[in-house]
Amino acid sequence: MLIVKALHIWMVISWFAGLFYLPRIYVNLAMVSADSVAERDRLLLMAGKLYKFMTPLGILAVLTGLWLWLGFGFGGGWLHVKIALVAVLLVYHWHCGRLLKDFRAGGNRYSHVWFRFYNELPVIVLLAVLFLVVLKPF
Ligand code: HEM
Repeated sequence: MLIVKALHIWMVISWFAGLFYLPRIYVNLAMVSADSVAERDRLLLMAGKLYKFMTPLGILAVLTGLWLWLGFGFGGGWLHVKIALVAVLLVYHWHCGRLLKDFRAGGNRYSHVWFRFYNELPVIVLLAVLFLVVLKPF
């Protein structure tokens, strides 16, 4: 069980590297002026590679979590709320992919200020998940 938990935490940390950094690239993309084509293409390339890298990590974070839950008999209210928060993270991940499509098509509608607030959501969810899984308050 401890090996699976170590793998789980490893996958979670690696996934969060992407969840934290990709929206930061979007802040920069939203600030790029229309005539800076080279800078825009470089940021789009970085965002595309990062999204491709973080997607399997998210899947493995969830699969190792399910393995812990279903394979080792964990349960309790904390886990149900945690899984609901994980669902929020999965929607966020998917939405980041949609935003990337919009940037590639030149159709981004959001300002760099909006993306700065958007960037904070995974931080808040991570804090809530950590309190739930370490303290198991209910
Ligand atoms: C469907 C997805 C997930 C499920 C079913 C799940 C389930 C679990 C379970 C059963 C444990 C073992 C708890 C224990 O040993 O006390 C665990 C540990 C952990 N999970 Fe998840 N998890 C999922 C996704 C995540 C995500 C997305 C995060 C981060 C945001 C996360 C963070 C952690 C951490 C930090 C631990 C170690 C806690 C400790 O050692 O006390 N998990 N997870």
